[in-house]
Amino acid sequence: MVQSQIILVMKFKKHLESIVPYSPGKSGGRSDAIKLSSNENLAGCSPQVQAALQTAVAHIAYYPNQTHALVAAIAKHVGVSEDHVMVGNGSDELITLLAMGYLEPQHTVLSAEQTFSQYQFAAQLIGARYAVSSMVGDSYDLDAMADQITDSTRLVFIANPNNPTGTMVTESAVIRFLNRVPSSCLVVLDEAYYEYVERSDYPNGVAMLSQFSNLVITRTFSKAYGLAGLRLGYAIASPDIIRVLNVVKQPFHVNALAMRAGLAALGDPAFIRESVATVSEQRQRTMAFLDGFKNRGVSYTDSVANFVLIDLPMTGQAAFDYLYQRGIVVRDLASFGRPQAIRVTVGLPKHMDRFFSAFLELMRSI
Ligand SMILES: Cc1ncc(COP(=O)(O)O)c(C=O)c1O
Repeated sequence: MVQSQIILVMKFKKHLESIVPYSPGKSGGRSDAIKLSSNENLAGCSPQVQAALQTAVAHIAYYPNQTHALVAAIAKHVGVSEDHVMVGNGSDELITLLAMGYLEPQHTVLSAEQTFSQYQFAAQLIGARYAVSSMVGDSYDLDAMADQITDSTRLVFIANPNNPTGTMVTESAVIRFLNRVPSSCLVVLDEAYYEYVERSDYPNGVAMLSQFSNLVITRTFSKAYGLAGLRLGYAIASPDIIRVLNVVKQPFHVNALAMRAGLAALGDPAFIRESVATVSEQRQRTMAFLDGFKNRGVSYTDSVANFVLIDLPMTGQAAFDYLYQRGIVVRDLASFGRPQAIRVTVGLPKHMDRFFSAFLELMRSI
């Protein structure tokens, strides 16, 4: 009796009812399983980070107090003043903080058809509308996106490179886009995979900040730096925007180990260079391997990031199940609107060798 009364009183906020709680998906299964499903760094993290963490563990009885040092180190790394930088509990948190700071229910969030799910989540959290623009092939179409901006559009998210397609938009396309966006609308360039991009026409978002005060860049330590488990990201934006993000954050939102790890990671650029070189080589190798299945209904999207989207002559779920049985965890892309595709993280040669032989078996099985 008492319980049913409580249920009656505890009404869930209406606009949150449609949100499906995020599920990280299956991992492992077998002890020798390799996880190629979340675009992490399969080389791990810098030995310098591991050493810093050993020391930092001795201090975890205290609240984190490295914010200033880390913000200063990131500002130096990026080439901006400290008031342009904000750290976050992963860049996921920064996306949520932007929604909390800037969105009202009558606003619209705009992004592309097949992209990172947290942009929609940001809109749903506030009860704002989420609109998507169509893509050209597997890439954002920024001209189509600009056409879709209305008075209610308050936040635009551009994943560059895009997850799950691995494509990028060029500097000239971004500048053309920014010139068409009203200054009342924030544009977020999500550069979670920027360290991996080797193309010279990739935008220098930081250089655009002085011209576009509505621009926000988010980056992460979860990918090339190999710190996904610690949750650390950062935003670069005008001091006004950074102030708003600081207003809505929790007091100690980034933990002490993450901060120490971030500081150590920035001190080891050689680790990043090596990781990026390995991914570059293995990405080429993976795409060349997939070329061998062209006449079997397999294609892939030319990627600039540490993962490859593969279109298949079967459902992504069937491919996932087959590979999972063989200890290889990939990402089925049905939830991204691609039921016949998987996304595979590019790892070290030994990981790709295992993926290649399991994929070969999969193709022989059909
Ligand atoms: C495009 C994009 N942005 C942001 C993130 C989230 O990164 P973080 O671990 O910093 O929250 C991811 C993670 O997969 C991503 O693919």
